[in-house]
Amino acid sequence: MVQGKTPLTLSCIGAGRAGKTLCRLFAEQQCRFEISIGQIINRSRASAQEAVTFIGQGQPGEGFENLSPANIWLIASPDDAISAVSERLSESGVLRKGDIVFHCSGSLSSDNLSTATDIAYRASVHPIHSFADPQNSLHNFSTTACAIEGDQQASAILTELFTAIGGHCFALDADKKALYHAATVMASNNLVSLLSLSQQLLEAAGIETQGGENILQSLAENSLNNYFNTDGIAALTGPISRGDSKTIKAHIESLKEYPDGLKVYASLGEIAVGLSAQQGYANSEQLVTISRFLNAVKKNKN
Ligand SMILES: NC(=O)c1ccc[n+]([C@@H]2O[C@H](COP(=O)([O-])OP(=O)(O)OC[C@H]3O[C@@H](n4cnc5c(N)ncnc54)[C@H](OP(=O)(O)O)[C@@H]3O)[C@@H](O)[C@H]2O)c1
Repeated sequence: MVQGKTPLTLSCIGAGRAGKTLCRLFAEQQCRFEISIGQIINRSRASAQEAVTFIGQGQPGEGFENLSPANIWLIASPDDAISAVSERLSESGVLRKGDIVFHCSGSLSSDNLSTATDIAYRASVHPIHSFADPQNSLHNFSTTACAIEGDQQASAILTELFTAIGGHCFALDADKKALYHAATVMASNNLVSLLSLSQQLLEAAGIETQGGENILQSLAENSLNNYFNTDGIAALTGPISRGDSKTIKAHIESLKEYPDGLKVYASLGEIAVGLSAQQGYANSEQLVTISRFLNAVKKNKN
C-alpha cells in the first residue's frame, strides 16, 4: 500500500470488454484511492481467467457461492443480466454497509440494482466510449465523457475514480437515462448503420466499395470534423443547404427501389431543412418545396 492512500478493493461481475478495461485502468490510476482488484466473476472461469490476465491483478471467482468482501462492486454484465446479477450479489450476503455497487449501462439507472438500499450505495456510470478493442481503450479512454447518477456517497467516489482515469464526469437524472442513451446511440451505432446504408446504395449504383480505400472515408471524416469544429449548423453543405429542390426530387426518384434508404433519406432530410433555415443560404420558398417532397415520401405519395 502506498503511504497516505486509502486502499479499496474492487471486484467485477462481468469482466468483458468494458469491465476488464475499467478494472485495469482503475488498478493503474493514481488518486487518493489505491484500488486493488479482488474477484472477477464471469459466466465461465476461462473467461474470468482471461480477464484477470488482461487486468494483471485479481482472482477468477467461482460463481456467487464463495464471494470475498470488496468495497466496490462493478457489474459490467450485459444490460439484461444486471438486475438478476445484482439480486444474486445481494442474496450472497457478501455486501457490507457502505459498499458501493455500480453498473455501466447507458439506458438503465441505478434503480435496476436490486441491492438492498440500506446496505450498499448504488450508482450507474456510463462512459460514452466504445470498448470494441480493450487494448486500444487503455490508451484512448482519456477525455471520455461519463454520465453519473445514483446515491451521493457512491457518485462522489466514482467521480473521483473515473476522473483519475481521464473521464469527464457529468450528472444525469435517472429518469432521463433512456432518452440520453438513445441520443448517444444516434451518434455512434446509428452513424455506423448510416454509413453502411450509404455503402449499400453506392454498390447499387455500381461502385465497388470493398477493398482498397473507402471512397466515403474522407467525406465522412470531413463532415465529422466540420461538425465538431463549428457550431454544428455550419457543417451542413449539399443540396438542402443550397436549396436545390430539383436535386432532392431526383434523389427521391432514384431511391424508390430502395425503401429503407428512402425512409432514412426523407427523415434526415427534414432535419437538414431545419438546419438549412438557420444557415440562411437557401430561401424559404426553396425549403418549403423541399419539405413538400420529403413529406410526400413519409405519406407514401411520391
Ligand atoms: N462495450 C461498450 O462499448 C460499452 C460502452 C459503455 C457501456 N457499456 C456497458 O458495459 C456493460 C458490459 O458491456 P460489454 O460490451 O463489456 O459486454 P461483453 O463484452 O459482452 O461482456 C459481458 C461480460 O459479462 C459476463 N456475463 C454475462 N452474463 C453474466 C452473468 N449472468 N453473471 C456473470 N457474468 C456474466 C460475460 O461472461 P463470459 O465472458 O463468461 O460470457 C462477459 O464477460 C453493459 O452494461 C454495457 O451497456 C459497454
